[in-house]
Parts: sequence; C-alpha cells; structure tokens
Amino acid sequence: MGWANWRVRSNDFQIKPIIAIVIFIVLLRTILTASPSLAWFEQMISTYGATHSSKTNLRADVRKDKFLEVPQIVWGLNNQKIALARSLLTARFLNRTLLMPSFSASLIYKEVELLQPMQFNKIFDFEKFNSICDGFVQLGQYSELSNKTDPFVIQKGSGRKWTKERDLRHLKEIVNDNKVHDLELVRIEGKNPFLWQDHWPVRDYAEILGCLVLINEIENDVVKVISKIGEISLKAKNNTNTSGSNPVVPYMAVHMRIEKDWMIHCKKWEQRSRLNQICSSKTEILDRVSHITGVNPPAVVYLAIADSLLEDDSVLEGWKVGLMPYEKKRLGVWGIYKKYPYLIQSAIDFEVCSRADIFVGNTYSTFSSLVVLSRTHKLLKLGFTDLCRNYDQLAIRFISYAYNILGDKNGAPKQWSTDMADSNLLKISFGTNNISCDANMSNRQ
Ligand SMILES: *[C@@H]1O[C@H](CO)[C@@H](O)[C@H](O)[C@H]1NC(C)=O
Ligand SMILES: *[C@@H]1O[C@H](CO)[C@@H](O)[C@H](O)[C@H]1NC(C)=O
Ligand SMILES: *[C@@H]1O[C@H](CO)[C@@H](O)[C@H](O)[C@H]1NC(C)=O
Ligand SMILES: *[C@@H]1O[C@H](CO)[C@@H](O)[C@H](O)[C@H]1NC(C)=O
Ligand SMILES: *[C@@H]1O[C@H](CO)[C@@H](O)[C@H](O)[C@H]1NC(C)=O
Ligand SMILES: *[C@@H]1O[C@H](CO)[C@@H](O)[C@H](O)[C@H]1NC(C)=O
Repeated sequence: MGWANWRVRSNDFQIKPIIAIVIFIVLLRTILTASPSLAWFEQMISTYGATHSSKTNLRADVRKDKFLEVPQIVWGLNNQKIALARSLLTARFLNRTLLMPSFSASLIYKEVELLQPMQFNKIFDFEKFNSICDGFVQLGQYSELSNKTDPFVIQKGSGRKWTKERDLRHLKEIVNDNKVHDLELVRIEGKNPFLWQDHWPVRDYAEILGCLVLINEIENDVVKVISKIGEISLKAKNNTNTSGSNPVVPYMAVHMRIEKDWMIHCKKWEQRSRLNQICSSKTEILDRVSHITGVNPPAVVYLAIADSLLEDDSVLEGWKVGLMPYEKKRLGVWGIYKKYPYLIQSAIDFEVCSRADIFVGNTYSTFSSLVVLSRTHKLLKLGFTDLCRNYDQLAIRFISYAYNILGDKNGAPKQWSTDMADSNLLKISFGTNNISCDANMSNRQ
C-alpha cells in the first residue's frame, strides 16, 4: 500500500539544516530578547518546511485528472477536520483528487438547512494545502472538471452494521472495478459518511492536518490574539521597554472542559466505562496546573473554554499566584472572535492552543487530542525525537500535559504526546487514559 512509504518520506525530511536553523534561531532569540517564545520561531520553521517538503516527494502521487466528490462535512471543528482527512485518504485510496469539499460553519447538525456550508478555501489556504501535501493527497476545484456528465455514484453506508471491515471491502471493490477506474468523477453519497470508519494510521492523519494553513485574514487574527497575550504578559513582567514590535512571550493554554453539558456527559461516560479519569473538576485542573514546573511567573494562562463559561467569572478565580488566567473576553479579543461563525472561532482557539509554549488539555476531548497531535507532529518535523525530554535549556518548550491524568512527579499532570505509531485514530476520537510523552509508544512493544 502506498501510505506504507510514509516513514521513508519523514526520515528523508531534511533534519540537519533544520537543526542548524533551530540553533541559529535560538541564539538569535537569546540575543534579541530574554523571553523567547515558540510562535515566532515556529513561523520561520513553517515557512521553511513548506518550501522544502515538496522536494522530498518519494510517495506515489494521486491522479490529478480524476476526482472524488463528497457530501458537505458536518459537526464540530474536530469532527470536520477528521472527516476531511478521511475524505482525502479515501480519495488517495481511489487514486483521485478530492474536489474541495464544504465544511459547515455552524454547529447545528440536526436541521440540515441551517448547516451553513462554507467552502474549504474560506478557512484554509487551498494553494498551500496542495503544495505542502503534494505527493500524498490533493484538492481540486470544480472548475477543473472537464466533463460533468454522469459521475459514478457510491452509496456509503452508516450506522453500526456498516463496520470498518465492510467499509474497507467496499472501497476495495471500487478500486478493482474497471468501470470506475477511468471515469472522471466518482461521487460518494450517504449520511455523514466520514464520521465513523477508520482505516488509516495516525501518521497519515497528522500529515494531512499538518497541511492545513489558515487563510491570511484568519491567521492575522490569530496573531492579534497571541500578541495580546504577549502584551499582557510583558506588562506584568514590568518590561515594557521592548524595542521590537509585536513582542511574543511564552504563554500557557489550558483547554478547560468544565461546562455543565460536558460534566453531565462525562460523569455518565465514567459510570459506563468504569473509569474515573475522564472528568476533572475545576479544582483538580487548577491543582495539577499549579504543579507544572518551568513556568516563569508571572505568566499568562489562556483559557480555551466554552462560550457559556465566558459569563462565569469563577473560572478566573483560584489560580496559583503568578498564573494570570485570561479567556477571550477578559483578554479583550472577543470582538475578533465575534465577527466569525462558530467554525472559525473554534479554528482560532485551536491555533492559540496549538502554538502555546505549554498546553494542558483533557485526553477525552477530541479538541485537546488534535491540539497535541499537531504539536507532536511539528516537533517531530523539527527533528526532535525524544519528546519526553524537557527542552527548556533550548528555550523551546512546546510541551503538552493532560490534566485528567496524574503524572509521576508530585501532583503535576502527565506529559502527553500523540502516539504517532498508532495504527488507528481510536484514541484520538474516543479518548484514552493510556498516554505517554513518547511519540513512538506502539513501537516499543
Ligand atoms: C495513481 O496512479 C498513477 C498512474 O496510474 C500511479 O503512478 C500512482 O502510483 C497511483 N497512486 C496511488 C496513490 O496509488
Ligand atoms: C463527455 O463524456 C461523454 C460520455 O462519457 C463523451 O461522449 C463526451 O465526448 C465527453 N465530452 C468531452 C468534452 O470530453
Ligand atoms: C515597574 O514599572 C514602574 C512604572 O513603569 C516603575 O516605577 C517600577 O520601578 C518598575 N518596577 C520594576 C521592578 O522594574
Ligand atoms: C529602553 O532601553 C534602552 C536600552 O536599555 C534605552 O536606551 C532606552 O532609553 C529605553 N527606552 C525607554 C522608553 O525607556
Ligand atoms: C521514533 O521513531 C523514529 C522513526 O520511526 C526514530 O527515528 C526515533 O529515533 C524514534 N524515537 C525514539 C525516542 O525512539
Ligand atoms: C497502552 O498503549 C500501548 C501502546 O499503544 C499498548 O501497547 C499498551 O498495551 C497499552 N496499555 C494498556 C494498559 O492498555
């Protein structure tokens, strides 16, 4: 199978020049400022990565004149991202380019007419996606279709009976069907066909999600939010004399799931699964976070929380002295978020968490899990292999923790990396209490 070649490509990625650049940047930052942060550094690397990854193209490419069309993608941001990756991996399986699908801007998923379709390129950069993912998967435009007559329609099943095995058998039948092979357009129909089935390893998902770059307009707003965090942090450090513009300073992001709906849901979940590590109360989260070392107070803690909690000032109370909690309202960036629909608000929050120097989340949240996936993927691309090490001395932190799992050290949460060697997405989709900071966990067995 084509995707077995992933490792070849990843090893081939030019690690040495990147390490040289890392060292250079670290030195530069040490000279420029006493409070280095990853955001700036990461931007340099992503520019570097984007321009170099297409040269290391050893995998089988997909045909660019044969297309796959899929129905509008629905549900929360995370489900939509996963469904997008699945559509692309299905297109790759069929050796086709995926016609740019529509996301759903709103979270309403029962009344189909309220779904507010939003084209892929209203959120993510279409060209950058294709350039970074070149040689693996591709997105196409409807205008590229030469002949709109008679697509081949595939009805994909859903529900419990439509098992993973059945789905794979079905896909293989299509691949082996000569009738389908040469047709320009294959269309998949069905009820949310990409919410359930999973045939692909975590690495393939990571690779595709790593090609998602926000369009400039939204990226600028992400930068605004992060700069605001930086300003507050600098003020607190009483170090307003920064010669550089747009100062970036380290911050921690905590994805706090303590809203009522979640607490009810997770308590039931705990009873069903006989686990007690799914729900964390506010007290537990604050306690575990207070034991994280390497945070230089005073430090801003960005709270990624549900909108319902924005009205509840108690989330801002009780933090350890030196940790300054801010959510989007208190930060004064609610106006930036407010102008966007749900999907983009969530995408901005995702980036703010993903670029934080320290991220703390819940292993039973898909949002948290995808944030950690993106952070792990980036670190590996940068050439770091041992993610259990603390990179403080390099001024690169980028460490993630799970507040719902107690770590080994005196009350601190457990350090958390995505197991990149995992053969499927189950842990990310459904949560797990079996985490480690070793990104090669499954390889160790
Ligand atoms: C797609 O088809 C082309 C040409 O038929 C082939 O060279 C390529 O390896 C195929 N790609 C995949 C992912 O199977
Ligand atoms: C479109 O497809 C039909 C049948 O598949 C074929 O007869 C026709 O020539 C095609 N037209 C073009 C412009 O390719
Ligand atoms: C903090 O800033 C204030 C006013 O800008 C100044 O008076 C004070 O000395 C500063 N404190 C420290 C510790 O630098
Ligand atoms: C900022 O610091 C530099 C060098 O330490 C100094 O020359 C300059 O006057 C300072 N500016 C302000 C506004 O304090
Ligand atoms: C993880 O796996 C990669 C390749 O699969 C290897 O290069 C790296 O050394 C491994 N890291 C650890 C800590 O085992
Ligand atoms: C935890 O995950 C690893 C790697 O995925 C697996 O080998 C191990 O059996 C799991 N442990 C438990 C207790 O489930």
